Amino acid sequence: MSDKIKIINVVGARPNFMKIAPIHRCMLNSIKINPLLVHTGQHYDDKMSKIFFEELSLPNPDIYLKVGSGSHASQTAKIMIEFEKIILSEKPDLVLVVGDVNSTLACALVASKLNIRVAHVEAGLRSFDRQMPEEINRIITDSISDYLFVSEQSGLDNLINEGVSKDKIFYVGNVMIDSLIHHIEDSKKSNILNNIKLNTGNFALVTLHRPSNVDCKDTIKEILNCLKLIQDNIDLVFPIHPRTFKNIKNFKLDNLLDSMPNLHLLDSVGYIDFLHLMNNSSFVLTDSGGIQEETTFLGVPCITLRENTERPITIDIGTNQLVKSDSESILNSYNKIINLKKQKNNIPELWDGKASMRIVDVIESL
Ligand code: UD1
Repeated sequence: MSDKIKIINVVGARPNFMKIAPIHRCMLNSIKINPLLVHTGQHYDDKMSKIFFEELSLPNPDIYLKVGSGSHASQTAKIMIEFEKIILSEKPDLVLVVGDVNSTLACALVASKLNIRVAHVEAGLRSFDRQMPEEINRIITDSISDYLFVSEQSGLDNLINEGVSKDKIFYVGNVMIDSLIHHIEDSKKSNILNNIKLNTGNFALVTLHRPSNVDCKDTIKEILNCLKLIQDNIDLVFPIHPRTFKNIKNFKLDNLLDSMPNLHLLDSVGYIDFLHLMNNSSFVLTDSGGIQEETTFLGVPCITLRENTERPITIDIGTNQLVKSDSESILNSYNKIINLKKQKNNIPELWDGKASMRIVDVIESL
């Protein structure tokens, strides 16, 4: 029998991989921790999953649940059923979940009901918008977690306001930035810009996948029409999420995409290529959560097509601005941002590449 703390680290969807990678690496180096990696299979395409394991040097998952896509209820339920079997057979001391995807909530709930301690990394973030599935995931996961690892001051404030006991909360910084710092040099070797024949710094990067932007035909059409105007002035690189691509095809808007000569449509790209694209773009237009943080760290101006953000530090001291998804708002903010220069300053507190080490230090001392 080992005396080590047995921990299950959970990944499921794309934004989980770069958060777990540095934590799992630190745990593998710890003499006190025995980490197991469980992949729920929420994301399963090679370009949404496998490439991240390779590029982030994550070992193959110890256990792969192959859950796949589905409605919120069926996906969450399938993960719970499969994950419960793993908890019962592996009997971990702790389950660690990151972020706010369905896998985060499902695995936290299973562990908590079996009286296994739960650690949540990226705790306390709140958009205060319950229309977002991620907000529900964040609130519930935090409320059943035993250890809450926080990435920015607002996370701490929100948890305190919700009455969470201070001794459960640890302000450790941002593990996603640990990965960024670890891989930024590697990303400079990416060939992606040569492959699409673009000069560095002379393009903007676009990502869209939020249901609020891509699940309604009128909204996505309005956004695409704005992109059409913008690409007359600056090349756009658009690595497209499978959800977005399927919707555009179903809405029969693919002609609109095809009508933009300066829009470079790519399949989803891996972590290294994406870092290179972000770091060299004039600005980013996105609806992602994590990209708001990465652009803040890199000093790249970011237009976030959302009405709210759970990451307010990226607006308060970073390069992010929230913009509604209508033509007037998008084009106004584009006209302002196009003249901004990259500003490498104002990095939030503890976004220093050492958040994972601080998390592992805390867990070792429990
Ligand atoms: C999920 C997360 C979201 C995160 C995003 C990052 C939830 C509620 N949402 O959204 O917070 O920002 O991941 O990508 O957990 N699909 C594929 N291949 C895949 C995975 C998905 O084709 O490998 C397609 C399927 O049609 C699927 C759709 O994408 O139905 C949506 O996938 P899903 O995991 O449900 O949500 P995301 O939109 O990816």
